[in-house]
Amino acid sequence: MTQPIADIRALDLTDPMTFVRHDPYEFWRTVREREPVYWHEGTAGQPGFWVVSGYADVQAAYNDAEALSSQRGTVLDVLLRGADSAGGKMLAVTDRPRHRELRNIMLRAFSPRVLREVATKVAERTSHLVRSVTEIGSFDFATELAEQIPMHTICDLLSIPEEDRKDLLEWNKLALSTEEPDGEQLDSVSARNEIVLYFMGLAQERRDEPGDDVISLIAGSELEGRPLTLEEIALNCYSLILGGDESSRMSAITAVLAFAQNEDKWRALQAGEVRVETAIEEVLRWSTPAMHFARTATRDLAIGGQQVRAGDIVTMWNTSANNDESVFPAPRVFDPSRHPNKHISFGHGPHYCVGAYLGRAELRGLLDALVAHVQDLELVAEPARIYSNFLFGYSSLRVRFPAR
Ligand code: HEM
Repeated sequence: MTQPIADIRALDLTDPMTFVRHDPYEFWRTVREREPVYWHEGTAGQPGFWVVSGYADVQAAYNDAEALSSQRGTVLDVLLRGADSAGGKMLAVTDRPRHRELRNIMLRAFSPRVLREVATKVAERTSHLVRSVTEIGSFDFATELAEQIPMHTICDLLSIPEEDRKDLLEWNKLALSTEEPDGEQLDSVSARNEIVLYFMGLAQERRDEPGDDVISLIAGSELEGRPLTLEEIALNCYSLILGGDESSRMSAITAVLAFAQNEDKWRALQAGEVRVETAIEEVLRWSTPAMHFARTATRDLAIGGQQVRAGDIVTMWNTSANNDESVFPAPRVFDPSRHPNKHISFGHGPHYCVGAYLGRAELRGLLDALVAHVQDLELVAEPARIYSNFLFGYSSLRVRFPAR
């Protein structure tokens, strides 16, 4: 049972528990109505920050990469603690003009041929996984199935040898355990270092003996007239895991939950009365896996009538924008046939998600496989939410998928 909202300023958006204790949609509706752009006071000795909630303001903020920089970091937690050490080296945390050059390198490497091949593999793998769970009774979709898809997609994209994947998956799991007590936090830092070192090794190998894979293409490219350093290559390979693993996983889990809780919509999808393409877009809007992204103002500017000063942290809340009733009628209705559906789940403007095609391909693989192999989506326990002020989703979703 979530608590009602009396005073929006009393809610601490830096505290992950805030997003579990309160109905986030009710909270954001209240914010958009009362103070669509407001200053959130700093807590625990940390700086304050701007909160941008309306669709048009969020979209405009994403677009204004000149006044709103990504280089110090793009996640609130990181900005409150200091600056992102990958700033200026990793695509997501680099500003123009270097950002544009780096992005072109990445986009060239993600050629339509490469993407199509990866999407085919995703569909095959997901179909196989879904078929296998129809035979086992109840299982945890979050940990036993959703975990398998995105990391393999990224490994396929980067042509990571099969024999290395187990280590990479283990390190990635350790790297994600950031909310753990001190001892384990050390593990998570060293796991991240292992991943970067692994990619540096691979980058060196592919530089020496280039193939036609994504890492070889990045390793053979030039940035500002010089070859990329091994660290730059490694960080940008790692950034695909950072950007593509958890967000895709959360969208898949929330997709299953949304269809399980809306049986009529599931039946419509199963019967082919709803197009998979529109269903994918609604899942992306409905789940909004990345709840916010953040920037730092490079100069004074006005956002939604508020005066933002150079150096201020600005947060754009995708969860709120994707539920803005001026753009999405009845936003809390899960409507897989919703059209148009210009959600902001992949961001907007110069940093728009480079993995959007693959994120969609993963959802397509999942929905197609469910329709092909599963009769009913049965929830067998209350789902467990993850604790985060950045990601929305579930850590556990126990279900049964009887075969069709
Ligand atoms: C950027 C969301 C899947 C890699 C972004 C941004 C969002 C986002 C909102 C913009 C960040 C900003 O403006 O600061 C998502 C969601 C996904 C997903 C919701 C899945 C449902 C993926 C996948 C990959 C990926 C599969 C990799 C294969 C990246 C990268 C960037 C990015 C590298 C940085 C782009 C840039 O700064 O130019 N993503 N993403 N994402 N995403 Fe995704």
